[in-house]
Amino acid sequence: MLNNLAPQSPDALLALIKLHAADPRPDKIDLGVGVYRDEAGATPVFRAIKAAEQKLVETQESKSYLGPEGDTGFVTALMPYIFGTDATRGGRIEGMQTPGGTGAVRLALALVQRAGAKRVLLGTPSWPNHAQILADVGLEMVPFAHAKSDGTADMDALLGAIEQSGEGDVILLHGCCHNPTGVEYTDEQWDTLAAAIATKGIFPIVDTAYQGLGNGLEEDAYGTRAIVDAVPETLVCYSCDKNFGVYRDRVGAFYMVAANSDDLPAITSNANALARANWSMPPDHGGAVIRTILRDPDMTQMWLDELQSMRERIRAVRERLAAADNEVPALDLTQLARQNGLFAMLPISKEQVAQLREDHGVYMAGSGRINIAGLTMDSVDQFITGLKAVTS
Ligand code: LMR
Repeated sequence: MLNNLAPQSPDALLALIKLHAADPRPDKIDLGVGVYRDEAGATPVFRAIKAAEQKLVETQESKSYLGPEGDTGFVTALMPYIFGTDATRGGRIEGMQTPGGTGAVRLALALVQRAGAKRVLLGTPSWPNHAQILADVGLEMVPFAHAKSDGTADMDALLGAIEQSGEGDVILLHGCCHNPTGVEYTDEQWDTLAAAIATKGIFPIVDTAYQGLGNGLEEDAYGTRAIVDAVPETLVCYSCDKNFGVYRDRVGAFYMVAANSDDLPAITSNANALARANWSMPPDHGGAVIRTILRDPDMTQMWLDELQSMRERIRAVRERLAAADNEVPALDLTQLARQNGLFAMLPISKEQVAQLREDHGVYMAGSGRINIAGLTMDSVDQFITGLKAVTS
């Protein structure tokens, strides 16, 4: 039986982690997988997480099963940050915990597939796992370009794709800090997109994995809220990996926005059934820790301060790269300052990416994506020197 399986290549992005670890060069630079790194190149556990874990060790009374929906206290505590005041829109929103944002995306796509969807519009390039999950749940991907070469949103392409969509189609959007392009829709662009989606009557799914790493927690929620307020129903996928730094604890949430609160029991029962069949219930620890933070004003403030310093560091590196634009005439680095979040795409070839790795110790995705937070003020110069060498 198992001999029938054709070998699959390992996930290219995750393979970079091992490749980088095996490189003995002390000045190697890891711009691969999307984790936040501080100015020392480390990804430390947040102080707020440590404090909440300590409290949890002392107070947690049981690790008995919860249910497919996980820690509902965690799910509810996040809602004001995502949806703002009137976080349930009059009882029309209900959520559940998922194993990471990936679990939420899986659930969203499986749920629309179960509801009869066949096609999903996806602006490309996107997070490569979007296409993999789509294919795995049996949905057809309808790709369209969504970014212009100057690093801004291609609204004509976006609106054109929506215009050409048909009844029952789904569109998958990144809530903020687009992965991998860094392109950020302005508030006006979000309003235009939300109106076009509502007029066409297609079904939006919003994937938000970087809230707070762009312009601010509130600012980064604008797009999600614009969609939620424009359409009768939608699904929101949420990751706490980056904004709480709990990557390997797998903490995500999935929110179902129904046209009427009466519709929610049927929707959530299907989501629960899918969760049960996939992972039964999500891992508890990270959700319980984040619930502990969000119910404690001092820990919440500690978390907000840490998030702000991350955001400011990412912004400083972006500005520093943009300021080096003259040194790399082949590329437009100025657009990095106009973009947001951990990522940017450099229009360089796979060969140039390999050359950067071999000659300059710079590890980045073959697509040309860089993780901005993998750079420090000290390593930017080495990166720029490498970029200049491989592009001239
Ligand atoms: C990334 O894009 O680097 C992150 O979202 C990590 C992942 O799971 O791919």
